[in-house]
Amino acid sequence: MNGLLYGVGLGPGSADLITIRASRLISTCQVLAYPKPDNCESFARSIAKDIIPPDITEIPIEIPMQEGLFPAHSVYDRVAVDISRHLDAGRDVVTICQGDPLFYGSFMYLFARLSKRHRVEIVPGVSSLTACAAAAGHPLCARHESLCIIPATLDHQDLYDRLAVAESCAIVKVGRHLPKVRSVLADLDLVSRSVLVTHATLPSEQVMALSDAPDNPPYFSTILVAGCSDYAED
Ligand SMILES: C[S@@+](CC[C@H](N)C(=O)[O-])C[C@H]1O[C@@H](n2cnc3c(N)ncnc32)[C@H](O)[C@@H]1O
Repeated sequence: MNGLLYGVGLGPGSADLITIRASRLISTCQVLAYPKPDNCESFARSIAKDIIPPDITEIPIEIPMQEGLFPAHSVYDRVAVDISRHLDAGRDVVTICQGDPLFYGSFMYLFARLSKRHRVEIVPGVSSLTACAAAAGHPLCARHESLCIIPATLDHQDLYDRLAVAESCAIVKVGRHLPKVRSVLADLDLVSRSVLVTHATLPSEQVMALSDAPDNPPYFSTILVAGCSDYAED
């Protein structure tokens, strides 16, 4: 019997937001894979560190951080071969992912390469989206509103076009893109409806009005833009 590939969401950062199912799988696994920037520690591994068993096989998926290489296809090709060998030998492989595996999660690159030939089970995680909303006390959308999720990596015009027609919004991957996003939101007169949430659920969590935010917040920062519904009146 071949092994099973698990894509396991870890939640936004605080270890007590790891689900019971994720915790059971991680604490009993024999082979653990996780994304790791090539220039620093793995955030995913650090969230799960207290429940990772000793003496297991670990597969760090080393992602080059230079611009232009993402999503690092050659790295995922190589890791997919490595994981395949374990699965073919009957060993389950648990791949952990910060937040939810299928919400901008790196697991999807392995899923694309391995799901045709191997059995895969995905364990959803608490996403940063809902964690940021909780930290800011910011309802994501109400009544007939729709929620638009926009990556800050888009250029100024794309951001403008999408934000101009959106209601409630979450802007992810903010980091060094904050000045560009803030200027688009200013053009649309939306800065006063926007908050920045950094490191939600971690001890370093910060929530601030976008107007007070620094130009270069950490990568793990999200901007929430409130829609117009007056949910208090519902
Ligand atoms: C590549 S996406 C990964 C999202 C993750 N899979 C999830 O479900 O939350 C990374 C982006 O998610 C947002 N993010 C992730 N964790 C966060 C946190 N703890 N606080 C604020 N934003 C976070 C940031 O916008 C960050 O740039």
